[in-house]
Amino acid sequence: MRLDPVARVLLTGILGGSIRKNPIFLLSSKYVKGQCMFNPILHFMAKDLAIDLGTANTLVYVKGKGIIADEPSVVAVHRDSRGAKKVIAVGNDAKNMLGKTPGNIDAIRPLRDGVIADFEITEAMLKYFIQKANGRKSRARPRIVISVPSCITPVEKRAVKESAESGGAKEVYLIEQPMAAAIGAGLPITEPNGSMIVDIGGGTTEVAVISLAGIVYCNSVKAAGDKIDLAIIQYIKRKHNLLIGERTAEMIKINLGSAYPDPDEERITMEIKGRDLVGGTPNTLEVSSAEIRQAISDPVKAIVEAIRIALERTPPELAGDIVDKGIVMSGGGAMLKNIDVLIKETSRLPVSVAGNPTTAVCEGAGKALDEVKLLREIASYI
Ligand SMILES: Nc1ncnc2c1ncn2[C@@H]1O[C@H](COP(=O)(O)OP(=O)(O)OP(=O)(O)O)[C@@H](O)[C@H]1O
Ligand SMILES: [Mg+2]
Repeated sequence: MRLDPVARVLLTGILGGSIRKNPIFLLSSKYVKGQCMFNPILHFMAKDLAIDLGTANTLVYVKGKGIIADEPSVVAVHRDSRGAKKVIAVGNDAKNMLGKTPGNIDAIRPLRDGVIADFEITEAMLKYFIQKANGRKSRARPRIVISVPSCITPVEKRAVKESAESGGAKEVYLIEQPMAAAIGAGLPITEPNGSMIVDIGGGTTEVAVISLAGIVYCNSVKAAGDKIDLAIIQYIKRKHNLLIGERTAEMIKINLGSAYPDPDEERITMEIKGRDLVGGTPNTLEVSSAEIRQAISDPVKAIVEAIRIALERTPPELAGDIVDKGIVMSGGGAMLKNIDVLIKETSRLPVSVAGNPTTAVCEGAGKALDEVKLLREIASYI
């Protein structure tokens, strides 16, 4: 017995239960073997997604469920003797391999400085996250909202869109990261009132002034978490002749790093491990909070400077609103100890960190997915 796919959906609804257990389904071997016959149904079942495709972390929001994945943007790839590549791990599992892989395995971060550095790997990563949301065996092609850095070029935007389409998306909407962050942080973006959001991620710091659902001014600099980690690696190498990896540097930043002195924490120290550059042997060393603050001062200054320039270029009426409401920060970098204190001190404005700094962008993109009118207003078309 052959049935039109739409009729089958209706019948399944009437009969109840899983379509696979349905007797009508079992009668038709064509439906078992012919996967393509399922496509109309699976389109129907696709779960719409919002993705924060970040340099450091990728987050996935599923309509009606909330955030279902928050994993590092890292992919581990195995190369065989003929050079053919195969993805062996994505996300948490792949990050654990960073800096520890043998010659035939690469742990790759496909996004650098906020943009796609490796398209093929980005596509594989997106495919992994889409499958995670929709189920491994599902051929459903969802609608996806993706947040992208505000200052990327149309060519880069197209690359993100095409990667998502090849990764399994049916329709792709791009929204600018600071806009998503502002929505996620609960700022009144649709009002005729200036709001300033500073999102410090892994690759970029984005400073934006938003009013009437539009970005009035935006400044994006490539000084954020990764540059802070790099500054720590370079400092330890120069000052202590010790070579450390990216993961150790990030750990030092999170445990010991700060942007502004705190008398209670100046003497806190931490033991770190690496390879001695003189003897070539593994070695341990103690570093203090005060010296790490010094080590990261250049990228931190670059972030502060980006905010100063944005404030200088904000139209006066909106600047007045920001004086009253202050600056709201988001992104993982906003959790660097005392960065809010430093920005408060240098801008002489009230500064606060969003309640959900690391998830604000994804939550904001998710809200746009839920509200079609808002999405139409803020999505960029390419
Ligand atoms: N407690 C902390 N202190 C300092 N930095 C932190 C802390 N927690 C996380 N970070 C840093 O935040 C960065 C990741 O932030 P986030 O997930 O917002 O970046 P992303 O969205 O992936 O990057 P981007 O927006 O630039 O593409 C990393 O550099 C991480 O080391
Ligand atoms: Mg981000």
